[in-house]
Amino acid sequence: MKEFNLKELLDSRFGENYDLHEKYVNRTLAKVLKTIGFDKCYKSAKGAYLYDAEGNAYLDFISGYGVYGMGRNHPVIAKALKDAIDLDLPNMVQLDCAELSGLLAERIVKLLNNKLTAVFFCNSGTEANEGAIKFARAHTKKSKIISMDGGYHGLTLGSLSITKTPHFQEGFGPFMPDTDVIKFNDISDLEEKLKKGDVAAFIAEPVIGHGVDIPSDDFFPKAQELCHKYGALFIMDEVQTGLGRTGKMFAFQHWGLEPDIVTIAKALSGGYVPAAAFVTTREIHQSVFSPLDNCVKHSTTFGRNNLAMVAGLASIHVIESEGMVENCAKMGKLLKEKLEALKQKHSYIKEVRGLGLMIAIEFQEPKGLLQKAAWRALKAANNSLFTQMIVTSLMDKYRIITQVTSHEVHAVKLLPPFIITEKEVDFFVKAFDETLSEAANPTGALWKFGKRLIAASIDNKK
Ligand SMILES: Cc1ncc(COP(=O)(O)O)c(C=O)c1O
Repeated sequence: MKEFNLKELLDSRFGENYDLHEKYVNRTLAKVLKTIGFDKCYKSAKGAYLYDAEGNAYLDFISGYGVYGMGRNHPVIAKALKDAIDLDLPNMVQLDCAELSGLLAERIVKLLNNKLTAVFFCNSGTEANEGAIKFARAHTKKSKIISMDGGYHGLTLGSLSITKTPHFQEGFGPFMPDTDVIKFNDISDLEEKLKKGDVAAFIAEPVIGHGVDIPSDDFFPKAQELCHKYGALFIMDEVQTGLGRTGKMFAFQHWGLEPDIVTIAKALSGGYVPAAAFVTTREIHQSVFSPLDNCVKHSTTFGRNNLAMVAGLASIHVIESEGMVENCAKMGKLLKEKLEALKQKHSYIKEVRGLGLMIAIEFQEPKGLLQKAAWRALKAANNSLFTQMIVTSLMDKYRIITQVTSHEVHAVKLLPPFIITEKEVDFFVKAFDETLSEAANPTGALWKFGKRLIAASIDNKK
């Protein structure tokens, strides 16, 4: 049989991507990507850019949903992973205590620098949250888990049970019992629910990823205080915000919080190998693993695998040594300020919000009569179509990758890599400014695409 040659394989089948997915993977996604003009075949990637076969550069402002903090194919992380393979290391012996997972756990604990000193490694954000739920129940001997409206914690059944968005939940019930949700930023609602004394934990993202919503400054400190008053744990889901994105290593540090459990994933992977973790106090950890015959009561086969641990160690190294957390704060501020300045010019912009390099630009019905009519036509067909039109135009004309936040909100979400510079900020702001100027002309090219989107949406409803 012919030798396996990866490059040859990729080169010989390049361009069949969408056909293969239509045949063997998610054909609906392939169809949607074609409809919105995102059906590109990328050939390579470096830093904040992806490249097609013609060498065109695409500016990546979603970072693989937040995975590529340190940019794509970072040479230090790549070298560390190649080294790990070349060293012929022992891996997943399972009945041993491996050096690499010990080292990464030590690194994460030092990074947190608080009461959280016990790490559990797993493979994805949702799995980290599942673990956090289990440990909270085991530790408090209570069952109820409270989350916040609009929050997203993953799509496996436990995490989905506390992700109370109808779009994600519909069709998958019944869910885990004993869950409840509070209104966004509503501390009295939380206290009412905690008062009953049956709550194991309140879990929240420091910045709600889906709409990039940030509660008022006093919300989290008060929520933490109330959790502890009523014997519940306070869990911060830092899957998206963790490791620098918001301009602090962990977003909870913006409020000086002391969570009982923190969940981490995405950027920990360096963009190469799924890597996730949740970190608790030793006491909470031991509630699950003690006595001796409980030593693997919570476990996952691939959790501590070498490549994930190396990716985590190398990622933290580059985030720290290249000043990425500071860059997130600096570039985030600049990007937000420049976008906010566009509000004067474009009545479409309702609000620019965010923390560090996690930003949403929310739209509203514009002022002009013609523009209003066009806006309403899109909205009638589908709530997120105006935003989709902007996102598609940014891709089509400027090769910038952004995303619609959710179906419910008219907002574009920006999640650029931590490494962007003023060059990328200026390029994006100019492109966004020009796109909104074009949107103000309902007979222009942009709205031709808008009409196509309306047709596709009506067709989809049939
Ligand atoms: C805040 C948050 N929690 C959990 C998850 C789920 O992570 P994963 O997709 O790795 O399961 C996500 C993913 O987007 C997230 O943003």
